[in-house]
Amino acid sequence: MTAKPLALVQASPTCAWESRRRAVDAHLDALLPLPNQQQELLSLAMRESAVAPGKRVRPLLLLLAAEGLGETRPAMLDLACAVEMVHAASLVLDDLPCMDDARLRRGRPTLHLSYGDDVAILAAIGLLSQAFGLLASADIEPSRRATLVAELSRAVGSQGLVKGQYEDLREGRKARSVEAIARTNELKTGVLFDAALQMAAIAAGATPEVRQSLAGFGLDLGQAFQLMDDLHDRSPCTTATGKDVGKDEGKATLVAVLGSSGVRHRLRQHLRSAEYHLARVYPPEQPIRVFVDELFSRFG
Ligand code: IPE
Ligand code: IPE
Ligand code: MG
Ligand code: MG
Ligand code: MG
Repeated sequence: MTAKPLALVQASPTCAWESRRRAVDAHLDALLPLPNQQQELLSLAMRESAVAPGKRVRPLLLLLAAEGLGETRPAMLDLACAVEMVHAASLVLDDLPCMDDARLRRGRPTLHLSYGDDVAILAAIGLLSQAFGLLASADIEPSRRATLVAELSRAVGSQGLVKGQYEDLREGRKARSVEAIARTNELKTGVLFDAALQMAAIAAGATPEVRQSLAGFGLDLGQAFQLMDDLHDRSPCTTATGKDVGKDEGKATLVAVLGSSGVRHRLRQHLRSAEYHLARVYPPEQPIRVFVDELFSRFG
């Protein structure tokens, strides 16, 4: 398989979300400024991991979901960057020698190779802390702010991303059922997609029905996204993804269990289900629906 993810980073400047992507990048840049002293390695490492050229899928989903619900306050950028900081922290930890032992991330050496394991771990903790601080001080109604903090902490915590990563690392090399692997994928990837969408809905004061549809959408999207990532891991080279390939060798991923064509079929099923949930909230021309179509265009 060839490129899509990095191609998205350089998406056409005319596309509907390009201005939001630039706003996210500019806000991350401002939130994590270059330290005055070049020796401040921790601040540099935090900045480098977050501002490195990722696809910004989660912050864009948050911004587009909020806009579609009529919520465009400037604080949405804080929420979006908080989610991206959590994501960046998860990538730093995921790449460590004691985890996936990766060498390349976002087209650059992984953070621990540039700064050492010690600084990489501290940078990840620093980013997580800053993300929650950002949410807690966002210019939004206090009751919604508290719910936002709770939502993000649910997604990161021991019933969310870290549990998924734990299962992936400790169970991933054993023979596992399709359901067990899918559950791990939900936890390590889907819950943060869901959280980004729920945060948009919380900020917008959306109804429980809307939140339920967004939860269905986020979890299907997360499954589809991890399957796309697992397929990319079988790419012949790293240029498409900007990260190592072949890291999943010997792991019971769904690609290993179902084969590439089985996974493509499953991925399309998740996309159809995601589209069903999304259509209950947003009309067809809404940028969030166009964004999702573009993200998965090669699997449509
Ligand atoms: C990588 O996420 C980790 C997974 C959940 C598969 P992304 O593919 O969104 O990584 P970036 O942000 O573009 O680097
Ligand atoms: C990890 O999945 C998802 C998280 C970082 C939480 P992967 O280990 O497959 O992600 P990549 O391929 O390294 O980006
Ligand atoms: Mg991993
Ligand atoms: Mg990895
Ligand atoms: Mg992967």
